Amino acid sequence: MTTLRAIDGDITKVDVEAIVNAANRSLLGGGGVDRAIHLAAGPELYEHCLTLGGCEVGQARITPGFGARAKFIIHTVGPKWKDGHAGEAELLASCYRESLRLAVENGVRSVAFPCVSTGIYGYPLRPACQIAVNTVRAFTASQTCLERVDFCCFHFNDVLVYQDLLRQP
Ligand code: AR6
Repeated sequence: MTTLRAIDGDITKVDVEAIVNAANRSLLGGGGVDRAIHLAAGPELYEHCLTLGGCEVGQARITPGFGARAKFIIHTVGPKWKDGHAGEAELLASCYRESLRLAVENGVRSVAFPCVSTGIYGYPLRPACQIAVNTVRAFTASQTCLERVDFCCFHFNDVLVYQDLLRQP
């Protein structure tokens, strides 16, 4: 049984084995949470990411945490919001599924996600959170090594949205 929680704060400070990064296709850093994670992990993360050759939208890659608090960083590339008819929902769901798949493959028991795509990439918040909750619930229903998945929110309003969704069966 996996516990799903909405928490408030900076993902680089959360006590989990893996944090997820909302990266871009280059995997070489950017703004938002990507910047915070690269700053926390230090230059070794950038050097390592140079060897990965990027990542497609909806996919994920795993790296060590280097200087970050978490043992692993899972980098996923969310879709940019266009009009909702460009496959955004399926690509966002894929980000969550692929990230969890890598977590489980690496024996990770606790993961924290940021609100992927809802910042610079402009995905509307509530639909994005609904996809996050549905996808994580579906994935964790069929395996047991994950003890906890945290939805780490930088804005308090995001916590309220997740809490509301998590209250619904
Ligand atoms: N901890 C937790 N969440 C955070 C933090 C943090 N330290 N900092 C920001 N957020 P964004 P995206 C929240 O823009 O929309 C980058 O340049 C933020 O408030 O980081 O997927 C990449 O390189 C928002 O709720 O990611 C890409 O080019 C959420 O994290 C692009 O941005 C995601 O916002 C990806 O855009």
